[in-house]
Amino acid sequence: MSVAREEHPMTRRDETTDPLADPAAFAALHPGLRHAPATARNREPIRQALKDLLPENPCTVLEIASGSGEHALWMARHLPQVTWLPSEATQEGIDAIRNWLAHCPDLAGRVRSPVVIAADQPPWQGTPVDAVFAANLTHIAPWSATLGLVAGAAARLVPGGILVIYGPFNEGGGFTGPGNAAFDATLRQQNPEWGLRDRETIDEVAVAQGFCVEAARLMPADNRLLVYRR
Ligand SMILES: C[S@@+](CC[C@H](N)C(=O)[O-])C[C@H]1O[C@@H](n2cnc3c(N)ncnc32)[C@H](O)[C@@H]1O
Repeated sequence: MSVAREEHPMTRRDETTDPLADPAAFAALHPGLRHAPATARNREPIRQALKDLLPENPCTVLEIASGSGEHALWMARHLPQVTWLPSEATQEGIDAIRNWLAHCPDLAGRVRSPVVIAADQPPWQGTPVDAVFAANLTHIAPWSATLGLVAGAAARLVPGGILVIYGPFNEGGGFTGPGNAAFDATLRQQNPEWGLRDRETIDEVAVAQGFCVEAARLMPADNRLLVYRR
């Protein structure tokens, strides 16, 4: 007879009250919360990639452009060795992350209080970190944000540390698929300085900043995870 392993009541998470179980539903009940629907779809593939890439011993990840902060909470919860430092460009962005954090007191120790960082204004204040992570920033900001992201990460990472950039990118001088081509057109209509970046150009920028280019990973929905090691 098989015996189900019982979870200790103190460690059991109630799916109906856990903010991260269904963040859309939770945010709908808390009108002040900013929810980014894509994070619910991509958080687990990104976490699996980070699990492979990050050290197994305690380490610190600085996130640039954290948005709602939902990635920060998911990664911290499911990568127990990680201390996650979220950031945003404006005080309004910081407040949005703080709002989510307030609903997840179990993570208060490993998701630090968010800090204001403008990617395009390196070097950023702070102590060295093991990894810098940015999702969906490079195409929804001017090119200067990508240049700053790479330069800022180079200055902030420990030797051997990694810069991980998630999002849609062009490869071989063109779009990787029709979905990304349409997305690029929409972005450029909103802001002519936005748009998908060429992966190979970011590779060149990274090499110029002293990084080694590691294999990019193919992610769901024609996204990529770019990896650069200091
Ligand atoms: C599409 S959202 C992505 C947010 C989050 N990383 C995610 O994947 O849901 C882009 C974010 O980049 C931030 N951002 C834009 N320009 C920035 C800059 N120069 N420095 C830092 N953050 C910036 C915006 O405030 C916004 O939260």
